[in-house]
Amino acid sequence: MDRIRIVGGRPLNGTIPISGAKNATLPLMIASLLTDQTLILDNVPRLADVVQLQRILGNHGVDVMLSGKRAGEDEYKGQSVHLSAAKIVDTTAPYELVSKMRASFWVIAPLVARMGEARVSMPGGCAIGTRPVDLLIMALERLGALIEIDGGYVVARAPKGLKGGEISFPKVTVSGTHTAVMAAVLASGTTVIDNAAREPEIADVAECLNKMGAHVSGAGTSRIVIEGVPKLGGARHSVVPDRIETGTYAMAVAMTGGEVMLEGARPELLQAALGVLQQADVDVSSTNQGIRVARNGAGIRPVDVATAPFPGFPTDLQAQLMALMTRASGTSRITETIFENRFMHVQELARMGARIQLDGETATIEGVERLKGAPVMATDLRASVSLVIAALAAEGETMVNRVYHLDRGFERLEDKLSRCGAEIERVSS
Ligand code: EPZ
Repeated sequence: MDRIRIVGGRPLNGTIPISGAKNATLPLMIASLLTDQTLILDNVPRLADVVQLQRILGNHGVDVMLSGKRAGEDEYKGQSVHLSAAKIVDTTAPYELVSKMRASFWVIAPLVARMGEARVSMPGGCAIGTRPVDLLIMALERLGALIEIDGGYVVARAPKGLKGGEISFPKVTVSGTHTAVMAAVLASGTTVIDNAAREPEIADVAECLNKMGAHVSGAGTSRIVIEGVPKLGGARHSVVPDRIETGTYAMAVAMTGGEVMLEGARPELLQAALGVLQQADVDVSSTNQGIRVARNGAGIRPVDVATAPFPGFPTDLQAQLMALMTRASGTSRITETIFENRFMHVQELARMGARIQLDGETATIEGVERLKGAPVMATDLRASVSLVIAALAAEGETMVNRVYHLDRGFERLEDKLSRCGAEIERVSS
């Protein structure tokens, strides 16, 4: 299993190209199940989760083709992926595949919408909390699907097709909103989704669905209206830049000091996080090229932050902010309101000398003068990258184990950091 070795203490200076968003790419790929025509996605990141989803879609009969590299193309340019679900050969998503990646459960929506049936394994628990699917099921039921739980599988049936309906989510859910939108585009009549998630990835998927011939309006707001159509066609769509990757590197620069241009990043996708960095005394400015982040000389000011659905501070940047605050000049408080158990990085950061106290959903972080490198490991993607951020500023060597978590969501992390001056390398064993 690969590991990443980091020797801390070097500032970051240079340019980091931002990849396409993982959390938009996955539902966009799943949307290919809605049509028998070809969907072409550009700016697709090279990630383990994308490869895993190719396998899952392949099992349903989707042909996935990756365009080769073009002459003169820069090595960081995203891939173009052609997905063609001309014929769906299997409407079952088995446990062995779904258990590896929770988002694959979302295939239930396009499968039942297009084929009138779907049998998808329940995703099961996960390291960051219980993560149920009750609201996804509720949304499908509101559109007329008959749901049964059978042997660990959710079986959804709508032999005469889905019917538009009113869905009001009692809690903001990204997965619930993706499911509702993907099911409603092929339902007969109008669907109204209230208290919809407003994450930019929802709007990106809706934009692509509209290119495919769907009628989705209001995506990106908390009320989405969908006029169902009988059929969708092919389209070409470029994936929105990854706001979590952007925020992660912004925090890395804030941690080490230096100045980095996050190329292709879009500030409107992460205003709350950029605002928190400014409160922490980090310089953030936007240019035509992307977002420039710098910290030269100034200390890190402590902050008090709670995660919230978009446009609030994202839970997917909570661990990275905590790593940054371990070096602040004072005491910070970070409250996690989305997932009940998303604090696995706390123990590992403590191994590097961080002082963090947990009380329910709030972590109190007392900034320390220095962190010290140590062997660490984490059990989820964002927790793992928070350890990388801490290691970049720690004295001596840190070995980050279980790198496969990082490969799920960060494209060429060690290349992007080392070209800005970090001492970081992948060690294969
Ligand atoms: C998405 O997960 C992201 N995943 C997560 O990113 C992200 O942390 C999360 O949204 C919140 O922003 C993808 O987009 C692939 P939710 P999702 O449905 O859709 C509860 C990463 O690191 N809930 O918005 O699964 C749930 O337990 C990942 O890239 C129910 O109660 O999140 C949570 O408390 C991790 N019942 C809250 O809602 C349901 O049926 C929000 O979950 C569904 C969710």
